[in-house]
Parts: sequence; structure tokens; C-alpha cells
Amino acid sequence: MRLKNKICVVTGASSGIGLACAAALQNEGGLVFGIDLNPAAAGGPPIIRADVSDETSVEHAVAEILARANRIDVLVASAGINLQGTVVTTPPDVWERLFAVNVRGTYLACRAVLPAMQRQKAGSIVIIGSNYGLVGGRNYAAYSATKGALVALTKAMALDHAAEGIRVNCVCPGTVETPMVTELMKTLGPDEIVATNARRKLQHPLGRIGQPHEIASGVVYLAGEESSFVTGTTLAIDGGFTAQ
Ligand code: NAI
Repeated sequence: MRLKNKICVVTGASSGIGLACAAALQNEGGLVFGIDLNPAAAGGPPIIRADVSDETSVEHAVAEILARANRIDVLVASAGINLQGTVVTTPPDVWERLFAVNVRGTYLACRAVLPAMQRQKAGSIVIIGSNYGLVGGRNYAAYSATKGALVALTKAMALDHAAEGIRVNCVCPGTVETPMVTELMKTLGPDEIVATNARRKLQHPLGRIGQPHEIASGVVYLAGEESSFVTGTTLAIDGGFTAQ
């Protein structure tokens, strides 16, 4: 029960990594509120419907959580989207949408929970970045740029809020089997699927892609007291992807 009675907010908690983080935090005794565009998944945490890229929407969601729970101990910012493209093939509106959800959405979620954490003089924020925030992703120009921004945001926020007792860290997953990845695979032809699976094995020295619960266990560590001296760090959970 490493998070007993801790009030945890997870964005993107209706699917994939956010859903697994919510389950792992709950298993450790945390009381989890999800924020997502989509309704709650079966067995998932209660969801307050909100678009993280919309300031009013996020503020209302966090106000509702504070009205119910009166404090926020942990934020996991997992809501994100992923679209492929080089700088040449990514139209400006797609570029802007990726930044709106991945970067602005994370900024707005942090901005909404920080006043409560400042009042409490305690809090832990875990931002879900990506291996593509640590190294470049071929044909993922906009996505890589958003995830690189989150690594820098993590460090800046860690400095700004350390004296307030608030820690900020970033988990950078390699490829993980979630709807984000499986939906993308559905757009590929049979040969492309074989090539993509072979490439992923090579890219991840452990020889496979990750499972959502493997990301969630790192998030639980960073959310709770075991990591009390850890702030401003990036934890790659990527099967060795960025070790190469
Ligand atoms: P997913 O697509 O399974 O789940 C994302 C969730 O975020 C969904 O429930 C979706 O409704 C929600 N969401 C999207 N836009 C939103 C918005 N504007 N407002 C509120 N909620 C919104 O994706 P997955 O794989 O779980 O991704 C979670 C995070 O992990 C993302 O930030 C992603 O970039 C990151 N990541 C994922 C990897 C993977 O291979 N699956 C690898 C590295 C990072």
C-alpha cells in the first residue's frame, strides 16, 4: 500500500498506459480520478470528461476533483496523441494539434493541480514522455518535438517547485502494446506489419515491445515516497531502446 489514501489524478486514464497507471496506483491504495475525452473503461477509474488541451475544461475537471477529495497528491499526465510524418509531410494543423494535446495539455493539467500541491507543500507529478523525447523518431517529427518538450518541461518544473515540496519526473516508454499502437498497425498492409514487427524487435534489445503495466510500475515508484529524493529525472522504460 505504497500510496495509501493518496489522491491521484491520471489524464488519459480511459486507455492504455493511463489506464494501467490508474490500476497500479489503486492497487497501492491510491484514490484515483481520471480525466479523459472518452468515458471510463470497464474496470477503470471514474472519469471526468475533459479535453486536456482546453483550459476551461481542465480547470473544471480539477475543481470537481478538489471539491470531492479536497487535495491532490499525485498527477500522472498520460493523455497524448501520436501521428506520423516528417516536417515536410506534417501539415501545420496536425503539428499544432500534437502540441495542443501533448504539450499544452500537460502544461494545463500541471497548472491546474499545482496550486493545491503548493498549499499542501507536497505533491508528485509524473509526466509520460517517450523514448522519442530522448532520441529522434524517424517519421515522427512533430511527436518527437512534443516529447522532447516534455523532458525539458519536467526539468524546468522540477527546479521551480522543489522548494515547495513538489517533485516532477518524466517516464519515457519505448513502444508499448496499447490502442495507440494497435490502431496504427491496423492501417498497415500485411508486409508492412511483418516489417514493423521485425524492426521493433531490433529496436528494443529485450526483443519485444512493452506492456502497459511495465510502465505503470515505474510511475508508482516516482509517484510515491520511495522516490523522495528524485526530481527532474527521466526514467526510460524502453527495453533498451535508448541504450543503443
Ligand atoms: P492510448 O491512445 O491508448 O490512450 C491515450 C488516452 O488519452 C486515451 O484514453 C484518449 O482518449 C486520451 N486523450 C487523448 N487526447 C486527449 C485529450 N485531448 N484530452 C483528454 N484525453 C485525451 O495511448 P497510450 O499508448 O496509452 O499513450 C499514453 C501516453 O504514453 C501518451 O502520452 C503517449 O504519447 C505515451 N507513449 C506511448 C507509447 C506507446 O507505444 N504506446 C510509447 C511512448 C509514449
